[in-house]
Amino acid sequence: MNKNIGFIGCGNMGSAMISGIVKAEIVPSDRIYVCDHHENNFDKVKEYNVNTTTNVIEMVQKVDILILSVKPYVYESVISQIKEDIKKDVIVVCIAAGKSIEQVENAFEKKVKVVKAMPNTPALVLEAMSAVSFNDLIEEVEKEEILKIFSGFGKVEVVKEELMDAVTAVSGSSPAYVYMMIEAMADAAVKQGMPRKQAYVFASQAVYGASKMVLETHQHPGQLKDAVCSPSGTTIEAVGKLEETGFRSSIIQAMDACYEKSKRMK
Ligand SMILES: NC(=O)c1ccc[n+]([C@@H]2O[C@H](COP(=O)([O-])OP(=O)(O)OC[C@H]3O[C@@H](n4cnc5c(N)ncnc54)[C@H](OP(=O)(O)O)[C@@H]3O)[C@@H](O)[C@H]2O)c1
Repeated sequence: MNKNIGFIGCGNMGSAMISGIVKAEIVPSDRIYVCDHHENNFDKVKEYNVNTTTNVIEMVQKVDILILSVKPYVYESVISQIKEDIKKDVIVVCIAAGKSIEQVENAFEKKVKVVKAMPNTPALVLEAMSAVSFNDLIEEVEKEEILKIFSGFGKVEVVKEELMDAVTAVSGSSPAYVYMMIEAMADAAVKQGMPRKQAYVFASQAVYGASKMVLETHQHPGQLKDAVCSPSGTTIEAVGKLEETGFRSSIIQAMDACYEKSKRMK
């Protein structure tokens, strides 16, 4: 792709996306510009030979696609710093939880091309799940470019913007819940005598394989669960205990909390 891509914020999500874009060779690394207010935050991307700077104005003047990868509460101050200096046709990509296209447009105080996107940190290993929505200024060819960037480091779907709070709960934040489950599974295995390092491999490969089964067999997750549960067997004992202790309800409540928080952040 013949475009310069800029990032403001080189934290967890920004660096994961940068890593994914470089590994997937979406643009050469010398077309990636990264700005952060602290030099030491560039350590996360130093292996990729991207351009780094603490001078945000200098950076935004060079980029065609600008990804705002700072926390939601600094969006307004970052936008007010750069709004006079962005290129005329720049595409601004907002990845902040709870921020809407309209809020970003208002912060720029002028018509600007805006993409609302919600990626997740598995971008780092090219296994992100991302959703994108476009404002009406984005042309078809630009939509293709944005989809190419996001599909380079995982799966991407175009969704209506009103679904973005649900996306935040189901894929943006959900790696955290899965890591908690893997940690708990490993703790139990350690309790039962397995060495810690081996326990993480067993737990995470089981989760990875189960996810792949859902994605690749297209069977209902309940059907796949039933296939693991033999009559009077070990798995149904575990399933019974999970139901008794509110496993499913706990996940639904957690995702509702995430969704509501995302809605409140507007
Ligand atoms: N993390 C996720 O899994 C995830 C998933 C989907 C979407 N998101 C969204 O991605 C965005 C970034 O999240 P994150 O988890 O990557 O946060 P993060 O790790 O805190 O990264 C933000 C980075 O921006 C830097 N920064 C803060 N203010 C700045 C400024 N004025 N100019 C330049 N750099 C600045 C921070 O530096 P210091 O830390 O040194 O201040 C940090 O390096 C958020 O809007 C979040 O909603 C995150």
